Amino acid sequence: MTIRLARLTGQDSPAWLEPALDVYVTAMNYPRGTERHRAGLWREHIARPGWSAFAAIAPAPVTPRTPDIDRRRLHHPLSPGGDEIMVGIAYGYRGAPDQWWNQQLRTGLRLTGTSPADIDEISADYFELTELHVHPTAQGHGIGEELLTLLLTGRPERHVLLSTPEIPAERNRAWALYRRMGFVDVLRHFTFAGDPRPFAFLGRRLPLADPGLEPGRPVPR
Ligand SMILES: CC(C)(COP(=O)(O)OP(=O)(O)OC[C@H]1O[C@@H](n2cnc3c(N)ncnc32)[C@H](O)[C@@H]1OP(=O)(O)O)[C@@H](O)C(=O)NCCC(=O)NCCS
Repeated sequence: MTIRLARLTGQDSPAWLEPALDVYVTAMNYPRGTERHRAGLWREHIARPGWSAFAAIAPAPVTPRTPDIDRRRLHHPLSPGGDEIMVGIAYGYRGAPDQWWNQQLRTGLRLTGTSPADIDEISADYFELTELHVHPTAQGHGIGEELLTLLLTGRPERHVLLSTPEIPAERNRAWALYRRMGFVDVLRHFTFAGDPRPFAFLGRRLPLADPGLEPGRPVPR
């Protein structure tokens, strides 16, 4: 499969938002319809300071013509001929104290006894990796790593933070990718308000060329 990576713009979001949401729902195995609830939130994220996004794009197979392919078909101006599909999406923005995710992180750190000074340090000057998804038919070829590398290269923030569902023995591709790229624990087994599933917050120092932190060190300084 020939893949090209492209920077996305907010202005062009009508060309890519729905295909990207479809990749997200399929990769996360969420029920169909989740994308409708998420669309407004993703649009709001586009307007946040420091928002940046990249897509992995592939030629659309000529046959068979399936609903899955059509849902991911890209439009003008991202793909003028309509003959390419979205296979991966990554985006994030600069974290800030007025953001819900930041407040949840601070709450979680407080509950685990982290000192106020450490909480301030962790939750300041970071890039939030908000979404990273590769369609299951394209996973396992390094696309996730390429998207993440592009997204994090040249960021001005001191570190990057993300949250991901807890998985027994960390045994899935997301965990393997984050560990391989030097992400360490910031907060484990946290439940966001309104969601009973446990999540982990992971982080690493930027720029990427820096070695990752030692596993087990809780604070990405
Ligand atoms: C997590 C995710 C984005 C990773 O994307 P990906 O393209 O599959 O991941 P990678 O770039 O790391 O590639 C994964 C595999 O390809 C291998 N790989 C890396 N570069 C490669 C290359 N150039 N050629 C072939 N294989 C390669 C890796 O060793 C890894 O091996 P694995 O099969 O044992 O996992 C993707 O699996 C996904 O969308 N998962 C579901 C949604 C999700 O969990 N998102 C994150 C939520 S926080």
